[in-house]
Amino acid sequence: MGKLDKQYLHQEQIHDIENGGSGSSGESGLLCPGCSMGLQRFANQFTFKCFFVLLLSLSVLLSGIFWVLPRYTIQTRFDAKDEIKLSATVQAYFRLVKPASQLIPYIERLEYDIYSEIGLPNTKVAVLSMHQSGASESEWTDVVFGVLPDPMTVPINPVSLSVLRSSIIELFLQQSNLTLTTSVFGNASSFEILKFHGGITVIPVQSASFWQKHEIMFNFTLNNSVSEMLDNFSAFKDELKYGLNLSSYENVYVQITNIHGSTVDPPVVVQASVVSDEGLLPQRLKQLAQTITGSPAKNLGLNNSVFGKVKGISLSSFLNRTLHATTPSPSPAPSPQTDYTEPPKSPYAHPLPLPPHQPFKSLVLTVKCLHRCLLL
Ligand SMILES: *[C@@H]1O[C@H](CO)[C@@H](O)[C@H](O)[C@H]1NC(C)=O
Ligand SMILES: *[C@@H]1O[C@H](CO)[C@@H](O)[C@H](O)[C@H]1NC(C)=O
Ligand SMILES: *[C@@H]1O[C@H](CO)[C@@H](O)[C@H](O)[C@H]1NC(C)=O
Ligand SMILES: *[C@@H]1O[C@H](CO)[C@@H](O)[C@H](O)[C@H]1NC(C)=O
Ligand SMILES: *[C@@H]1O[C@H](CO)[C@@H](O)[C@H](O)[C@H]1NC(C)=O
Ligand SMILES: *[C@@H]1O[C@H](CO)[C@@H](O)[C@H](O)[C@H]1NC(C)=O
Ligand SMILES: *[C@@H]1O[C@H](CO)[C@@H](O)[C@H](O)[C@H]1NC(C)=O
Ligand SMILES: *[C@@H]1O[C@H](CO)[C@@H](O)[C@H](O)[C@H]1NC(C)=O
Repeated sequence: MGKLDKQYLHQEQIHDIENGGSGSSGESGLLCPGCSMGLQRFANQFTFKCFFVLLLSLSVLLSGIFWVLPRYTIQTRFDAKDEIKLSATVQAYFRLVKPASQLIPYIERLEYDIYSEIGLPNTKVAVLSMHQSGASESEWTDVVFGVLPDPMTVPINPVSLSVLRSSIIELFLQQSNLTLTTSVFGNASSFEILKFHGGITVIPVQSASFWQKHEIMFNFTLNNSVSEMLDNFSAFKDELKYGLNLSSYENVYVQITNIHGSTVDPPVVVQASVVSDEGLLPQRLKQLAQTITGSPAKNLGLNNSVFGKVKGISLSSFLNRTLHATTPSPSPAPSPQTDYTEPPKSPYAHPLPLPPHQPFKSLVLTVKCLHRCLLL
Protein backbone atom coordinates (compact mmCIF):
# COMPACT_ATOMS: atom_id res chain seq x y z
CA MET A 1 0.00 0.00 0.00
CA GLY A 2 1.13 3.52 -0.67
CA LYS A 3 2.96 5.76 1.70
CA LEU A 4 0.13 8.27 1.56
CA ASP A 5 -2.36 5.67 2.67
CA LYS A 6 -0.21 4.58 5.54
CA GLN A 7 0.12 8.14 6.75
CA TYR A 8 -3.56 8.72 6.27
CA LEU A 9 -4.49 5.61 8.23
CA HIS A 10 -2.06 6.44 10.97
CA GLN A 11 -3.51 9.92 11.40
CA GLU A 12 -7.06 8.62 11.32
CA GLN A 13 -6.27 6.07 13.97
CA ILE A 14 -4.62 8.61 16.23
CA HIS A 15 -7.58 10.90 15.71
CA ASP A 16 -9.94 8.10 16.49
CA ILE A 17 -8.07 6.98 19.58
CA GLU A 18 -8.05 10.56 20.84
CA ASN A 19 -11.77 10.98 20.27
CA GLY A 20 -12.70 7.50 21.41
CA GLY A 21 -10.38 7.64 24.38
CA SER A 22 -11.90 10.78 25.85
CA GLY A 23 -15.40 9.62 24.88
CA SER A 24 -15.19 6.29 26.64
CA SER A 25 -13.53 7.57 29.81
CA GLY A 26 -16.28 10.17 30.05
CA GLU A 27 -19.13 7.77 29.56
CA SER A 28 -17.75 4.54 30.98
CA GLY A 29 -18.87 5.65 34.44
CA LEU A 30 -22.46 5.56 33.25
CA LEU A 31 -22.22 2.08 31.77
CA CYS A 32 -20.44 0.34 34.61
CA PRO A 33 -19.57 2.56 37.55
CA GLY A 34 -16.16 1.83 38.98
CA CYS A 35 -14.69 0.16 35.93
CA SER A 36 -11.65 2.41 36.02
CA MET A 37 -10.80 1.89 39.70
CA GLY A 38 -8.06 -0.13 41.28
CA LEU A 39 -7.28 -3.84 40.69
CA GLN A 40 -8.22 -4.99 44.19
CA ARG A 41 -11.81 -3.90 43.55
CA PHE A 42 -11.89 -5.43 40.04
CA ALA A 43 -13.53 -8.73 40.96
CA ASN A 44 -16.56 -7.39 42.79
CA GLN A 45 -17.08 -4.36 40.54
CA PHE A 46 -16.91 -6.46 37.38
CA THR A 47 -20.24 -6.49 35.66
CA PHE A 48 -21.67 -8.38 32.75
CA LYS A 49 -22.04 -5.10 30.84
CA CYS A 50 -18.31 -4.46 31.14
CA PHE A 51 -17.49 -7.94 29.90
CA PHE A 52 -19.98 -7.64 27.05
CA VAL A 53 -18.54 -4.32 25.84
CA LEU A 54 -15.03 -5.74 26.01
CA LEU A 55 -16.05 -8.82 24.03
CA LEU A 56 -17.78 -6.77 21.36
CA SER A 57 -14.81 -4.41 21.00
CA LEU A 58 -12.50 -7.38 20.58
CA SER A 59 -14.67 -8.97 17.93
CA VAL A 60 -14.93 -5.69 16.01
CA LEU A 61 -11.15 -5.34 16.14
CA LEU A 62 -10.58 -8.93 14.98
CA SER A 63 -13.10 -8.80 12.15
CA GLY A 64 -11.57 -5.48 11.12
CA ILE A 65 -8.14 -7.09 10.91
CA PHE A 66 -9.41 -10.02 8.89
CA TRP A 67 -11.36 -7.71 6.63
CA VAL A 68 -8.25 -5.66 5.91
CA LEU A 69 -5.81 -8.54 5.37
CA PRO A 70 -7.26 -10.30 2.30
CA ARG A 71 -8.20 -7.03 0.62
CA TYR A 72 -4.93 -5.21 0.92
CA THR A 73 -2.14 -7.67 1.21
CA ILE A 74 -3.34 -10.61 -0.86
CA GLN A 75 -5.07 -8.80 -3.71
CA THR A 76 -2.69 -9.37 -6.63
CA ARG A 77 -5.20 -9.27 -9.47
CA PHE A 78 -7.63 -6.75 -10.80
CA ASP A 79 -10.04 -7.30 -13.67
CA ALA A 80 -12.51 -4.83 -15.07
CA LYS A 81 -16.04 -5.91 -15.87
CA ASP A 82 -16.41 -7.99 -19.07
CA GLU A 83 -18.70 -5.32 -20.45
CA ILE A 84 -15.85 -2.77 -20.29
CA LYS A 85 -13.27 -5.21 -21.65
CA LEU A 86 -15.49 -6.01 -24.62
CA SER A 87 -16.14 -2.40 -25.58
CA ALA A 88 -12.43 -1.51 -25.52
CA THR A 89 -11.61 -1.80 -29.22
CA VAL A 90 -8.17 -0.37 -28.49
CA GLN A 91 -6.08 -2.25 -25.94
CA ALA A 92 -2.46 -1.96 -24.91
CA TYR A 93 -0.10 -3.47 -22.38
CA PHE A 94 2.81 -2.32 -20.28
CA ARG A 95 4.74 -3.50 -17.29
CA LEU A 96 5.27 -1.79 -13.94
CA VAL A 97 8.00 -2.99 -11.59
CA LYS A 98 5.75 -2.89 -8.50
CA PRO A 99 3.59 -5.49 -6.81
CA ALA A 100 -0.06 -5.29 -7.88
CA SER A 101 -1.22 -4.76 -4.29
CA GLN A 102 0.58 -1.40 -4.29
CA LEU A 103 -0.94 -0.38 -7.63
CA ILE A 104 -4.56 -1.49 -7.37
CA PRO A 105 -5.52 1.33 -4.94
CA TYR A 106 -4.30 3.87 -7.53
CA ILE A 107 -6.08 2.60 -10.63
CA GLU A 108 -7.94 5.87 -11.17
CA ARG A 109 -4.71 7.81 -10.89
CA LEU A 110 -3.13 5.52 -13.50
CA GLU A 111 -6.09 5.98 -15.84
CA TYR A 112 -5.73 9.72 -15.43
CA ASP A 113 -1.98 9.60 -16.16
CA ILE A 114 -2.50 7.55 -19.33
CA TYR A 115 -5.36 9.77 -20.39
CA SER A 116 -3.16 12.86 -20.06
CA GLU A 117 -0.78 11.22 -22.50
CA ILE A 118 -3.05 9.82 -25.21
CA GLY A 119 -6.57 10.91 -24.31
CA LEU A 120 -8.86 12.57 -26.84
CA PRO A 121 -12.28 14.21 -26.56
CA ASN A 122 -15.11 11.66 -26.27
CA THR A 123 -12.77 8.89 -25.24
CA LYS A 124 -11.83 7.53 -21.85
CA VAL A 125 -9.05 5.32 -20.59
CA ALA A 126 -9.88 2.29 -18.44
CA VAL A 127 -7.48 -0.11 -16.79
CA LEU A 128 -8.76 -3.53 -17.89
CA SER A 129 -6.54 -5.73 -15.80
CA MET A 130 -3.58 -5.77 -13.46
CA HIS A 131 -1.99 -9.16 -12.92
CA GLN A 132 1.06 -9.71 -10.83
CA SER A 133 3.69 -11.89 -12.45
CA GLY A 134 6.16 -14.18 -10.74
CA ALA A 135 5.93 -15.89 -7.43
CA SER A 136 7.06 -13.34 -4.85
CA GLU A 137 5.73 -9.89 -4.04
CA SER A 138 8.80 -8.20 -5.50
CA GLU A 139 7.83 -9.07 -9.04
CA TRP A 140 6.29 -6.87 -11.71
CA THR A 141 2.68 -6.26 -12.65
CA ASP A 142 1.25 -6.66 -16.14
CA VAL A 143 -1.13 -3.80 -16.86
CA VAL A 144 -3.66 -3.85 -19.70
CA PHE A 145 -5.60 -0.70 -20.45
CA GLY A 146 -8.21 0.13 -23.02
CA VAL A 147 -9.44 3.25 -24.75
CA LEU A 148 -13.22 3.42 -24.88
CA PRO A 149 -15.69 5.76 -26.47
CA ASP A 150 -17.32 8.16 -24.04
CA PRO A 151 -20.31 7.86 -24.09
CA MET A 152 -20.01 4.13 -24.76
CA THR A 153 -22.83 4.05 -27.31
CA VAL A 154 -21.08 6.37 -29.82
CA PRO A 155 -18.06 4.77 -31.54
CA ILE A 156 -14.79 6.73 -31.55
CA ASN A 157 -14.76 8.84 -34.72
CA PRO A 158 -12.25 7.93 -37.47
CA VAL A 159 -10.16 11.10 -37.06
CA SER A 160 -9.68 10.55 -33.32
CA LEU A 161 -8.95 6.89 -33.98
CA SER A 162 -6.19 7.80 -36.42
CA VAL A 163 -4.63 10.30 -33.97
CA LEU A 164 -4.85 7.67 -31.25
CA ARG A 165 -3.27 5.10 -33.55
CA SER A 166 -0.29 7.40 -34.21
CA SER A 167 0.31 8.16 -30.54
CA ILE A 168 -0.02 4.51 -29.50
CA ILE A 169 2.43 3.40 -32.21
CA GLU A 170 4.84 6.14 -31.03
CA LEU A 171 4.64 4.68 -27.54
CA PHE A 172 5.29 1.21 -28.89
CA LEU A 173 8.32 2.40 -30.89
CA GLN A 174 9.54 4.41 -27.85
CA GLN A 175 9.46 7.58 -29.91
CA SER A 176 7.56 8.81 -26.88
CA ASN A 177 7.22 7.28 -23.45
CA LEU A 178 4.34 7.11 -20.98
CA THR A 179 4.90 9.65 -18.23
CA LEU A 180 3.30 8.26 -15.10
CA THR A 181 3.34 9.55 -11.52
CA THR A 182 6.76 8.02 -10.86
CA SER A 183 6.50 8.07 -7.06
CA VAL A 184 3.49 5.75 -7.25
CA PHE A 185 4.05 3.73 -10.43
CA GLY A 186 7.74 3.87 -11.26
CA ASN A 187 8.48 3.63 -14.98
CA ALA A 188 6.41 1.80 -17.55
CA SER A 189 8.23 -0.63 -19.81
CA SER A 190 7.61 -3.31 -22.46
CA PHE A 191 4.80 -1.37 -24.11
CA GLU A 192 2.81 -3.53 -26.56
CA ILE A 193 -0.37 -2.96 -28.51
CA LEU A 194 -2.80 -5.84 -28.05
CA LYS A 195 -5.68 -4.78 -30.23
CA PHE A 196 -6.49 -1.85 -32.47
CA HIS A 197 -9.67 -1.87 -34.47
CA GLY A 198 -8.68 -1.48 -38.12
CA GLY A 199 -5.15 -2.82 -37.69
CA ILE A 200 -1.80 -1.11 -37.21
CA THR A 201 1.12 -0.48 -39.51
CA VAL A 202 4.54 0.08 -38.01
CA ILE A 203 7.39 1.70 -39.91
CA PRO A 204 10.62 0.61 -38.25
CA VAL A 205 13.67 2.89 -38.17
CA GLN A 206 13.11 4.33 -41.65
CA SER A 207 11.52 7.72 -41.87
CA ALA A 208 7.78 7.86 -42.34
CA SER A 209 8.16 10.52 -45.03
CA PHE A 210 9.70 7.86 -47.26
CA TRP A 211 6.25 6.40 -47.81
CA GLN A 212 4.93 9.68 -49.10
CA LYS A 213 7.21 9.43 -52.12
CA HIS A 214 7.21 5.71 -52.82
CA GLU A 215 4.65 3.15 -53.65
CA ILE A 216 4.49 -0.31 -52.14
CA MET A 217 5.80 -2.77 -54.75
CA PHE A 218 5.05 -6.07 -53.13
CA ASN A 219 3.91 -7.63 -49.90
CA PHE A 220 4.11 -10.99 -48.20
CA THR A 221 3.00 -12.68 -45.00
CA LEU A 222 5.17 -14.06 -42.19
CA ASN A 223 3.95 -15.98 -39.17
CA ASN A 224 5.67 -13.60 -36.72
CA SER A 225 4.55 -10.77 -34.50
CA VAL A 226 5.49 -7.15 -35.11
CA SER A 227 7.63 -7.22 -31.95
CA GLU A 228 9.54 -10.27 -33.14
CA MET A 229 10.12 -8.60 -36.51
CA LEU A 230 11.55 -5.51 -34.81
CA ASP A 231 13.76 -7.60 -32.54
CA ASN A 232 15.31 -9.16 -35.63
CA PHE A 233 14.97 -6.20 -37.91
CA SER A 234 18.55 -5.64 -39.04
CA ALA A 235 18.98 -9.34 -39.81
CA PHE A 236 15.65 -9.25 -41.64
CA LYS A 237 16.67 -6.33 -43.84
CA ASP A 238 20.08 -7.77 -44.67
CA GLU A 239 18.60 -11.12 -45.63
CA LEU A 240 15.84 -9.55 -47.71
CA LYS A 241 18.38 -7.41 -49.60
CA TYR A 242 20.37 -10.54 -50.28
CA GLY A 243 17.27 -12.48 -51.32
CA LEU A 244 16.22 -9.73 -53.74
CA ASN A 245 19.76 -9.66 -55.09
CA LEU A 246 19.96 -5.87 -54.64
CA SER A 247 23.09 -4.05 -55.67
CA SER A 248 24.98 -1.65 -53.43
CA TYR A 249 23.10 1.41 -54.75
CA GLU A 250 19.70 -0.18 -54.19
CA ASN A 251 17.80 -0.47 -50.94
CA VAL A 252 14.56 -1.96 -49.68
CA TYR A 253 12.15 -0.22 -47.33
CA VAL A 254 9.44 -2.03 -45.43
CA GLN A 255 6.47 -1.39 -43.22
CA ILE A 256 4.85 -4.06 -41.11
CA THR A 257 1.11 -4.55 -40.63
CA ASN A 258 -0.96 -6.67 -38.30
CA ILE A 259 -4.56 -6.50 -39.39
CA HIS A 260 -5.90 -7.04 -35.85
CA GLY A 261 -3.74 -4.25 -34.50
CA SER A 262 -1.56 -6.43 -32.30
CA THR A 263 2.20 -6.19 -31.88
CA VAL A 264 2.35 -9.52 -30.04
CA ASP A 265 0.25 -11.84 -32.23
CA PRO A 266 1.27 -13.27 -35.62
CA PRO A 267 0.94 -12.95 -38.55
CA VAL A 268 2.36 -9.82 -40.15
CA VAL A 269 2.10 -8.54 -43.68
CA VAL A 270 5.40 -6.99 -44.81
CA GLN A 271 4.92 -4.29 -47.43
CA ALA A 272 8.08 -3.46 -49.28
CA SER A 273 9.45 -1.02 -51.78
CA VAL A 274 12.79 -1.08 -53.59
CA VAL A 275 14.56 2.18 -54.38
CA SER A 276 17.68 2.86 -56.35
CA ASP A 277 20.01 5.85 -56.45
CA GLU A 278 20.07 5.41 -60.18
CA GLY A 279 16.32 5.00 -60.64
CA LEU A 280 14.63 1.73 -61.53
CA LEU A 281 14.37 1.11 -65.22
CA PRO A 282 11.51 -1.06 -66.51
CA GLN A 283 13.96 -3.86 -67.23
CA ARG A 284 15.24 -3.84 -63.66
CA LEU A 285 11.69 -3.77 -62.37
CA LYS A 286 10.85 -6.81 -64.41
CA GLN A 287 13.96 -8.56 -63.08
CA LEU A 288 12.92 -7.69 -59.52
CA ALA A 289 9.40 -8.97 -60.13
CA GLN A 290 10.88 -12.22 -61.43
CA THR A 291 13.18 -12.56 -58.41
CA ILE A 292 10.32 -11.94 -56.01
CA THR A 293 7.90 -14.38 -57.62
CA GLY A 294 10.33 -16.83 -59.18
CA SER A 295 11.99 -18.37 -56.15
CA PRO A 296 9.59 -19.29 -53.38
CA ALA A 297 12.01 -22.04 -52.34
CA LYS A 298 14.59 -19.37 -51.50
CA ASN A 299 12.13 -17.79 -49.05
CA LEU A 300 13.12 -14.29 -50.27
CA GLY A 301 16.49 -14.94 -48.64
CA LEU A 302 14.97 -15.04 -45.17
CA ASN A 303 16.26 -17.58 -42.66
CA ASN A 304 13.44 -20.05 -42.25
CA SER A 305 14.30 -20.91 -38.64
CA VAL A 306 14.05 -17.24 -37.55
CA PHE A 307 11.33 -15.81 -39.79
CA GLY A 308 9.43 -18.91 -40.83
CA LYS A 309 8.06 -19.49 -44.29
CA VAL A 310 7.24 -16.57 -46.57
CA LYS A 311 3.61 -16.82 -47.71
CA GLY A 312 1.20 -14.92 -49.91
CA ILE A 313 3.69 -12.99 -52.01
CA SER A 314 1.71 -10.40 -53.91
CA LEU A 315 2.96 -7.82 -56.39
CA SER A 316 1.45 -4.39 -56.76
CA SER A 317 -0.51 -4.12 -60.00
CA PHE A 318 2.20 -1.76 -61.25
CA LEU A 319 5.00 -4.29 -60.69
CA ASN A 320 2.80 -7.15 -61.86
CA ARG A 321 2.32 -5.37 -65.19
CA THR A 322 6.08 -5.16 -65.76
CA LEU A 323 6.19 -8.93 -65.35
CA HIS A 324 3.80 -9.46 -68.24
CA ALA A 325 5.04 -6.61 -70.42
CA THR A 326 6.57 -7.95 -73.62
CA THR A 327 8.26 -4.71 -74.62
CA PRO A 328 9.75 -2.37 -72.04
CA SER A 329 7.53 0.69 -71.84
CA PRO A 330 7.85 3.79 -69.66
CA SER A 331 6.29 2.99 -66.32
CA PRO A 332 3.76 5.32 -64.75
CA ALA A 333 5.17 7.46 -61.99
CA PRO A 334 4.27 6.02 -58.60
CA SER A 335 1.98 8.34 -56.73
CA PRO A 336 1.71 8.70 -52.97
CA GLN A 337 -0.93 6.34 -51.64
CA THR A 338 -1.28 7.23 -48.06
CA ASP A 339 -0.55 10.34 -46.09
CA TYR A 340 1.46 9.39 -43.03
CA THR A 341 1.95 12.90 -41.70
CA GLU A 342 1.32 13.11 -38.04
CA PRO A 343 -1.77 15.01 -36.96
CA PRO A 344 -1.07 17.36 -34.04
CA LYS A 345 -1.61 16.01 -30.57
CA SER A 346 -4.73 17.15 -28.85
CA PRO A 347 -4.21 19.77 -26.18
CA TYR A 348 -7.23 18.38 -24.43
CA ALA A 349 -6.49 17.61 -20.83
CA HIS A 350 -8.43 15.90 -18.09
CA PRO A 351 -10.26 18.64 -16.17
CA LEU A 352 -9.52 17.56 -12.61
CA PRO A 353 -7.06 15.20 -11.00
CA LEU A 354 -8.87 12.37 -9.33
CA PRO A 355 -8.43 11.94 -5.60
CA PRO A 356 -6.46 8.88 -4.51
CA HIS A 357 -8.45 5.95 -3.20
CA GLN A 358 -9.12 6.02 0.52
CA PRO A 359 -9.70 2.35 1.23
CA PHE A 360 -9.42 2.64 4.99
CA LYS A 361 -11.87 5.43 5.44
CA SER A 362 -14.90 3.17 5.39
CA LEU A 363 -13.37 0.77 7.92
CA VAL A 364 -12.45 3.60 10.27
CA LEU A 365 -15.96 5.01 9.93
CA THR A 366 -17.49 1.61 10.67
CA VAL A 367 -15.40 1.20 13.81
CA LYS A 368 -16.27 4.75 14.90
CA CYS A 369 -19.94 4.07 14.38
CA LEU A 370 -19.88 0.75 16.28
CA HIS A 371 -17.98 2.43 19.04
CA ARG A 372 -20.64 5.11 19.37
CA CYS A 373 -23.47 2.55 19.26
CA LEU A 374 -21.87 0.57 22.05
CA LEU A 375 -21.48 3.60 24.24
CA LEU A 376 -25.08 4.70 23.83
C1 LIG B 1 11.85 6.21 -24.07
O1 LIG B 1 12.47 5.29 -23.20
C2 LIG B 1 13.46 4.48 -23.82
C3 LIG B 1 13.97 3.48 -22.80
O2 LIG B 1 14.19 4.07 -21.57
C4 LIG B 1 14.57 5.37 -24.39
O3 LIG B 1 15.52 4.57 -25.03
C5 LIG B 1 13.95 6.36 -25.37
O4 LIG B 1 14.94 7.24 -25.83
C6 LIG B 1 12.85 7.14 -24.71
N1 LIG B 1 12.19 7.97 -25.71
C7 LIG B 1 12.01 9.26 -25.55
C8 LIG B 1 11.35 9.99 -26.68
O5 LIG B 1 12.33 9.85 -24.52
C1 LIG C 1 12.54 6.23 -14.56
O1 LIG C 1 13.12 6.78 -15.74
C2 LIG C 1 13.82 8.00 -15.50
C3 LIG C 1 14.28 8.55 -16.83
O2 LIG C 1 14.43 7.56 -17.80
C4 LIG C 1 14.99 7.72 -14.55
O3 LIG C 1 15.68 8.91 -14.29
C5 LIG C 1 14.45 7.15 -13.26
O4 LIG C 1 15.51 6.77 -12.42
C6 LIG C 1 13.59 5.92 -13.53
N1 LIG C 1 12.95 5.50 -12.29
C7 LIG C 1 12.84 4.23 -11.93
C8 LIG C 1 12.16 3.98 -10.64
O5 LIG C 1 13.27 3.32 -12.62
C1 LIG D 1 2.07 -19.41 -36.43
O1 LIG D 1 2.90 -19.55 -35.29
C2 LIG D 1 2.21 -19.93 -34.12
C3 LIG D 1 3.23 -19.97 -33.00
O2 LIG D 1 3.92 -18.77 -32.94
C4 LIG D 1 1.57 -21.29 -34.33
O3 LIG D 1 0.84 -21.64 -33.18
C5 LIG D 1 0.64 -21.22 -35.52
O4 LIG D 1 0.10 -22.49 -35.78
C6 LIG D 1 1.38 -20.73 -36.74
N1 LIG D 1 0.42 -20.54 -37.85
C7 LIG D 1 0.69 -20.90 -39.07
C8 LIG D 1 -0.37 -20.62 -40.08
O5 LIG D 1 1.76 -21.42 -39.38
C1 LIG E 1 14.70 -12.87 -33.11
O1 LIG E 1 13.80 -12.43 -32.10
C2 LIG E 1 13.61 -13.34 -31.03
C3 LIG E 1 12.63 -12.75 -30.08
O2 LIG E 1 11.50 -12.33 -30.71
C4 LIG E 1 14.91 -13.62 -30.36
O3 LIG E 1 14.70 -14.60 -29.37
C5 LIG E 1 15.93 -14.11 -31.37
O4 LIG E 1 17.16 -14.23 -30.76
C6 LIG E 1 16.05 -13.13 -32.53
N1 LIG E 1 16.93 -13.67 -33.54
C7 LIG E 1 17.88 -12.96 -34.12
C8 LIG E 1 18.68 -13.69 -35.15
O5 LIG E 1 18.08 -11.79 -33.83
C1 LIG F 1 22.23 -10.74 -59.02
O1 LIG F 1 22.63 -9.47 -59.56
C2 LIG F 1 23.82 -9.47 -60.30
C3 LIG F 1 24.09 -8.05 -60.74
O2 LIG F 1 23.89 -7.15 -59.72
C4 LIG F 1 23.65 -10.42 -61.47
O3 LIG F 1 24.88 -10.51 -62.16
C5 LIG F 1 23.23 -11.81 -61.01
O4 LIG F 1 22.96 -12.65 -62.11
C6 LIG F 1 21.99 -11.72 -60.15
N1 LIG F 1 21.67 -13.02 -59.61
C7 LIG F 1 20.44 -13.49 -59.60
C8 LIG F 1 20.27 -14.87 -59.00
O5 LIG F 1 19.50 -12.87 -60.04
C1 LIG G 1 19.38 -19.40 -39.44
O1 LIG G 1 19.18 -19.04 -38.08
C2 LIG G 1 19.60 -20.03 -37.17
C3 LIG G 1 19.19 -19.59 -35.77
O2 LIG G 1 19.52 -18.24 -35.55
C4 LIG G 1 21.10 -20.26 -37.31
O3 LIG G 1 21.51 -21.27 -36.43
C5 LIG G 1 21.42 -20.65 -38.76
O4 LIG G 1 22.80 -20.74 -38.93
C6 LIG G 1 20.84 -19.62 -39.71
N1 LIG G 1 21.02 -20.08 -41.08
C7 LIG G 1 21.62 -19.35 -42.03
C8 LIG G 1 21.69 -19.94 -43.36
O5 LIG G 1 22.09 -18.24 -41.78
C1 LIG H 1 -0.52 -10.55 -61.02
O1 LIG H 1 -1.82 -10.17 -61.49
C2 LIG H 1 -2.66 -11.25 -61.81
C3 LIG H 1 -3.95 -10.70 -62.35
O2 LIG H 1 -3.77 -9.52 -62.99
C4 LIG H 1 -2.89 -12.10 -60.59
O3 LIG H 1 -3.69 -13.22 -60.90
C5 LIG H 1 -1.57 -12.58 -60.01
O4 LIG H 1 -1.81 -13.26 -58.79
C6 LIG H 1 -0.67 -11.40 -59.75
N1 LIG H 1 0.62 -11.91 -59.32
C7 LIG H 1 1.21 -11.50 -58.20
C8 LIG H 1 2.49 -12.17 -57.85
O5 LIG H 1 0.77 -10.61 -57.48
C1 LIG I 1 -0.88 -6.76 -50.47
O1 LIG I 1 -0.83 -6.46 -51.86
C2 LIG I 1 -2.05 -6.70 -52.57
C3 LIG I 1 -1.80 -6.40 -54.03
O2 LIG I 1 -1.20 -5.14 -54.20
C4 LIG I 1 -3.15 -5.83 -52.00
O3 LIG I 1 -4.37 -6.10 -52.61
C5 LIG I 1 -3.27 -6.09 -50.51
O4 LIG I 1 -4.21 -5.19 -49.96
C6 LIG I 1 -1.94 -5.89 -49.83
N1 LIG I 1 -2.08 -6.23 -48.42
C7 LIG I 1 -1.73 -5.40 -47.48
C8 LIG I 1 -1.96 -5.85 -46.07
O5 LIG I 1 -1.23 -4.30 -47.70
